[in-house]
Amino acid sequence: MRIDVVSIFPTFFDVLEVSLLGKARDRGLLDVRVHDLRDHAHDRHRSVDDTPYGGGAGMVMKPEPWGQALDEIVASSDADAGTVRPVIIFPSPAGELFSQATARELADEPHLVFGCGRYEGIDERVFDYAATLGRVRLMSLGDYVLNGGEVAAMAMIEAVGRLIPGVVGNPESLVEESHEDGLLEYPSYTKPASWRGREVPDVLLSGHHARVADWRRAQQVERTRIRRPDLLPAAETEPQA
Ligand code: ADE
Repeated sequence: MRIDVVSIFPTFFDVLEVSLLGKARDRGLLDVRVHDLRDHAHDRHRSVDDTPYGGGAGMVMKPEPWGQALDEIVASSDADAGTVRPVIIFPSPAGELFSQATARELADEPHLVFGCGRYEGIDERVFDYAATLGRVRLMSLGDYVLNGGEVAAMAMIEAVGRLIPGVVGNPESLVEESHEDGLLEYPSYTKPASWRGREVPDVLLSGHHARVADWRRAQQVERTRIRRPDLLPAAETEPQA
């Protein structure tokens, strides 16, 4: 998969050189290219923002640098990824909610572009123009406001990147995670069986696989009911007898 990121803080994405995604890049599973939006600003101060029409607080990102950055990325996409139009994602608190289902959907794409806005946002015409180049999605991480799209893009890149076949060593570990089956993950324990007066639940020491599976499932439902009742169908929001 190819991922392009446009930001005025390209060094933010240096962390993509470490850990599992760093290894995935080294192994050629992931081709990440980070672009400095200011390289596409041509005035003396390399400015990328200006005051909003109609007045109001803050600054708005100018359309011209965005247009040029996206043009260049998409032109090079045709050269090495064929004719599939990229998905162009703008992280935004005003976007649709990003979820594990979104991550799975995006993990099947050959080319993602993340456009990280700052200030009060990006000139609205950029989204309209981007839709002539690719499939545009405004995506929110949750109902809170970050200073810009960078942290949100990082989170989305990690959530998507780890679903690309081969990135996570043991694909089994992807199956039993929170949100993969609509429930939160069951609790995990390792040795020692007794630690500071706290015991590992007996069932996990029993060696009885069916009972372990039942217990884990019940724990998933109970945790989800307490912490995230919004994820459960109405019938399952009552305490289990
Ligand atoms: N940019 C600022 N806040 C954001 C959020 N909650 N999600 C995605 N992008 C953002």
